[in-house]
Amino acid sequence: MTDIVELTALGPDFTSDPYPYYAALRVRGPVHRVRLPDGREVWLVVGYDEARAALADPRLKKDWSAHPEWQPEGDSGQLLSNMLQSDPPRHTRLRKLVARAFTGGAVEALRPTVQRITDGLIDDMLAKSPDGRADLVDALAYPLPMTVICELLGVPDLDRERFRRWSDAFVTTDGPGGKDGTEAELARYMKQLIEDKRHTPGPDLFSALIRTTDEDGDRLSGDELVGMAFLLLVAGHETTVGLIANGTLALLRHPDQLAALRADFGLLDNAVEEMLRYDGPVETSTWRFTGEPVEIGGTVLPAGDIVVVALASAAREPGRFDAPDRFDITRETRGHLAFGHGIHYCLGAPLARMEGRIAVRTLLERCPDLALDADPATLQWRSGLLMRGPVRLPVRVR
Ligand code: HEM
Repeated sequence: MTDIVELTALGPDFTSDPYPYYAALRVRGPVHRVRLPDGREVWLVVGYDEARAALADPRLKKDWSAHPEWQPEGDSGQLLSNMLQSDPPRHTRLRKLVARAFTGGAVEALRPTVQRITDGLIDDMLAKSPDGRADLVDALAYPLPMTVICELLGVPDLDRERFRRWSDAFVTTDGPGGKDGTEAELARYMKQLIEDKRHTPGPDLFSALIRTTDEDGDRLSGDELVGMAFLLLVAGHETTVGLIANGTLALLRHPDQLAALRADFGLLDNAVEEMLRYDGPVETSTWRFTGEPVEIGGTVLPAGDIVVVALASAAREPGRFDAPDRFDITRETRGHLAFGHGIHYCLGAPLARMEGRIAVRTLLERCPDLALDADPATLQWRSGLLMRGPVRLPVRVR
């Protein structure tokens, strides 16, 4: 009999600081049977080697439609008709359609745009905080990636407040379908967005995708178009907000590291990698399913079970990273799994890195006295296993 770890029994501390819990689980073994707050049982992979292997294991499937019992009803299925919920060959076809827009070179061309948006947001933050106080999530970490992905896709008029609510509900619940009702509303909104764009095409990615569907539905079906737009919008901003917020928080809590970075921005790229490793924005992978019995770390997982990879745990594996609980912007960070691994490796990694580097550097340059304006122990953290980040990050900007 395998012991079941009750996640709810771990209490609120598990959400605010899951790392000691992952460390305790790792000592007991690399794979655990875990009960989620909604009662569902999943396998949680916590060891580094096992996590890396699981992420690249073709026997772990993504296409949940093989499990009708989890299939969300109605429109929401369309949202999940996307590359992250697909296996080859569909995954390969969908990823290829947009890969070119996210290569290092393509993203480099966005640098002036990202810098302009960052400058504008920091101008606003400074202008709107005469008392020197601001919420960094609201002022910079959230709107920066959201504005960039909207510009890249060509949907500058997206109803950001509504989209933020829906998308937050979607990613803070455990499971593939999000909260009841949210999916259907979101799917309707996405379809309307596509309809509007169809009538006002531009030189943007979204228009190009719509053209592909209209001219060759075999390459991108109508449902897949909805799924693609949804995935890019959600993945494009839900994650980078955590890189900027968690990364800035780590710097502010480690004044020696902050001083080192201020003294030498040559350390910036590695500092961002360490932010991703030390307290990355994606705590666990999305769900995978065993298509057949699969042995991981000495445990045989039966066919049809759900597998979740704890990226945050792998990041603190002592055998892999020296003194892993230390935040050290000069350390060797290679091999961190913050962007995943294997065929679903983050498509947006070059964009996320650029946004993170520009945001952190500009913030430090513009706010020489930047400081935390809250006891870190009182910060509220996003719920759910998928995303990790503070809901608000109060700072003093001058
Ligand atoms: C710091 C920011 C980001 C982090 C930490 C991050 C992390 C990840 C991770 C861990 C995965 C794999 C999930 C899994 O295998 O279950 C993933 C996939 C993906 N990410 Fe990101 N991401 C970030 C930013 C972005 C951005 C800016 C975009 C831009 C649109 C993006 C688009 C995607 C897409 C499309 C996939 C699916 C790739 C596939 O299935 O082949 N991500 N990301």
